[in-house]
Amino acid sequence: MSGVEPFDAVDVIRAQRDRTGLSEDALRWMVDAYTREYVTDAQMSAFAMAVLLNGMERSEIRVLTDAMIATGERMSFAGLGKTTVDKHSTGGVGDKITLPLAPLVASFGVAVPQLSGRGLGHTGGTLDKLESIPGWRAALSNDEMSAQLRDVGAVICAAGSGLAPADKRLYALRDVTGTVEAVPLIASSIMSKKIAEGTASLVLDVKVGSGAFMHDLGKARELAQTMVALGADSGVSTTALITDMDTPLGRAVGNANEVRESVEVLAGGGPADVVELTVALAREMLTLAGRPDVDVEAALRDGRAMDVWRAMIRAQDGDPDAALPTPRETHTVTAAASGTLTRLDAWDVGIAAWRLGAGRARPQDDVAHAAGVQLHVKPGDTVVAGQPIATLGADDASRIPRALEALENAWTIAAPERSRHDNRPLAARSIVLERITA
Ligand code: URA
Repeated sequence: MSGVEPFDAVDVIRAQRDRTGLSEDALRWMVDAYTREYVTDAQMSAFAMAVLLNGMERSEIRVLTDAMIATGERMSFAGLGKTTVDKHSTGGVGDKITLPLAPLVASFGVAVPQLSGRGLGHTGGTLDKLESIPGWRAALSNDEMSAQLRDVGAVICAAGSGLAPADKRLYALRDVTGTVEAVPLIASSIMSKKIAEGTASLVLDVKVGSGAFMHDLGKARELAQTMVALGADSGVSTTALITDMDTPLGRAVGNANEVRESVEVLAGGGPADVVELTVALAREMLTLAGRPDVDVEAALRDGRAMDVWRAMIRAQDGDPDAALPTPRETHTVTAAASGTLTRLDAWDVGIAAWRLGAGRARPQDDVAHAAGVQLHVKPGDTVVAGQPIATLGADDASRIPRALEALENAWTIAAPERSRHDNRPLAARSIVLERITA
């Protein structure tokens, strides 16, 4: 754009602050001008805070999402000859579901283009987990990605910088201005990238609980409904599952240990909650892809999903048979009393794994692939005093005391209690709390 700008950032901020009406053109300009670095970080911070405090109409969120998409490239898999379906999780502790899920769905002849990220803070990134496999490469060109989708069916790789660049700047700004939690901003951030990626359909895993962005079911529902509507408006068939993130998923939290657990699921075993969520999301994805009647569990039992996993890892130069790294130092924590494990807090376990080196404090940091927490019990299990609860692993022993501090109040051993979300007994409840459709 050259010459005089058509709007003034201060007017746009005031309109959002006072809710006096934000025109579509003004909103589009704000996003574009921020990406061009005409609108400053200070001005965008004020705007983001006004969005957090006042919310936005659905129509405004749609314009915001479109404006973010328009700042970058749009991919297309139209020439692939197979339908595409993707999954996105809002992020949780021990959330390795993408790893078994992508090959499982692809084993039914559907293409799964999974553009993923690295972790920041207490939730791990899918790419960090896969990079614990010797040789595995996250960066693929668009042509490599299309070829792998055609030949193998599943690809998990790094999102290039060309998709919704406005989101990259805005997300980094939100991270340091207390504005991450705004539903319009989360919804437009996630959906701009997924719509630009060009998938035909999308299943969202919206997490709720102590280890998630959303701590209460009402907010998680609002986020899920907003994103499902954005998908529908853009021609991407979208459904969402709202799932529990009060407790970590599975028994492994880290990187290499999460890959190991994913391979157990692909071999027909693995923890019940990881299998349950993998199968539930696979059913949703296959339904959207026009394959509602297939036997999902059979592909885990008979090795079809494992075959796709091995081909997917090899296609990206990884060795599926290589030994995964193990931590140099370990420390096991035991139960102080006997009873039932009624609570095992996802946030605390996520922080412990992060402090052990499984996550990064700054984007430029490396992760320790072997570091993490291995859980020996799950909520609902009976424990006796002295029984191992968790084993902490790190490459550097000096990290263990701070991780232990994070776990000081991480669990409760008492009489069985009920879920705060749906009042069902903890041991008997399903991980999927709600399903949201357009
Ligand atoms: N994931 C994203 O990509 N964006 C958000 O705002 C939150 C989670």
